[in-house]
Amino acid sequence: MNFLRLSDLDLAGKRVFIRADFNVPFNADGSLADDTRIRATLPAIRHCLDAGAAVMITSHLGRPVEGALAAADSLAPVADALSSLLGHPVPLVKDWTDGGFGVRAGELVLLENCRGNVGEKADDPRLAARIARFIDVYVNDAFGTAHRKECTLHALALAAPVACAGPLMTAELDALGRALAHPARPLAAIVAGSKVSTKLTILESLAAKVDVLVLGGGIANTFLAARGCEVGASLHEPDLLDAARRIERRLAEHGGVVWLPEDVVVADRFAPDADARNHDTEHVPPGTMILDIGPQSRDSLAGVLARAGTIVWNGPVGVFEMDAFAAGTRALASAIAASPAYSIAGGGDTLAAIARFDVGEQIDYISTGGGAFLAFLEGSELPAVAALRTRARTASRRIEPVPQFEHEPELS
Ligand code: 3PG
Ligand code: MG
Repeated sequence: MNFLRLSDLDLAGKRVFIRADFNVPFNADGSLADDTRIRATLPAIRHCLDAGAAVMITSHLGRPVEGALAAADSLAPVADALSSLLGHPVPLVKDWTDGGFGVRAGELVLLENCRGNVGEKADDPRLAARIARFIDVYVNDAFGTAHRKECTLHALALAAPVACAGPLMTAELDALGRALAHPARPLAAIVAGSKVSTKLTILESLAAKVDVLVLGGGIANTFLAARGCEVGASLHEPDLLDAARRIERRLAEHGGVVWLPEDVVVADRFAPDADARNHDTEHVPPGTMILDIGPQSRDSLAGVLARAGTIVWNGPVGVFEMDAFAAGTRALASAIAASPAYSIAGGGDTLAAIARFDVGEQIDYISTGGGAFLAFLEGSELPAVAALRTRARTASRRIEPVPQFEHEPELS
């Protein structure tokens, strides 16, 4: 990959700025629901601290209003989590865009939610220039946000004295790139979601590459309707039937297929205690909705996945949060776990399903990216990665050798 890596640099005494993705889920009581993304950033942090750098790290959390950060938008719970994972306090710095805070070599501070800064979303180069004044090395370890073109992901990578990829970013790009560049065939992709319209580009791009496209959720219902099935009150998009047929044809051109269920679990209400019934897929009763795949489909899907060489998994095939509609996704998770195929998985719902059905150990690579994982599969260039590549092309002129800095690493 043609960009600088953190491990290429001498960091002793340098002021290192890490852009991480700590956009983590919370429970209703405000506690952290999952710290995977925080733990996944520890190698970058430890590398920099051990190398004797003065380390600043930031992330976005949610989608706050710029210039008006509410208490709920604060990275304070992440500071607590980092403190316990690292075994020492990690101070949280507010209003940091002009520097003026202290951090010594071998120390770490967390800079408050970068999406609170005016200019972050717009990728403002003036904001980037202000931040670049107090850093020596910029590290992007935020694979989960690499599909966004925002200041701490893009403009800052262009403005910083040195810009490189952190170990998580590098590992993600390596694993996904390897799986998709020369995949063991057949290549099966599982893509679920409520709408074909929001995933049209990814479906079209996958249709050209994969051997089996397994669909779930409202997307599957739209494809079923396009094949002439009556889908009752199921979530689907009647305007997208032609698009669905086009995608099926695209696959057929190279011998690929769309996998859809032959039987489904239907209910008249979207509720955990709804009356769930198995039904064939062709004539779903009016007024009922498809909420999971049925028993025959579970077997057929397991057979498809057992024969796959590579499996890419993004999304459940049923409403697995409710026990009555969890069997399909449980069977899917078990089939991926049991398959000899190389398997990669990503996305919030998928990670929740992996945790619920306890198959994490049997998945070959679990990505921290949701939207970024999909954007990568789609084949689009991730703006954050593009910025690192741009810097690598100009490296000989601008950043070689790593400059020696006159100032003390302490910022004040
Ligand atoms: C994510 O969780 O998908 C990433 O952190 C990106 O967040 P965003 O969708 O708010 O840009
Ligand atoms: Mg998102």
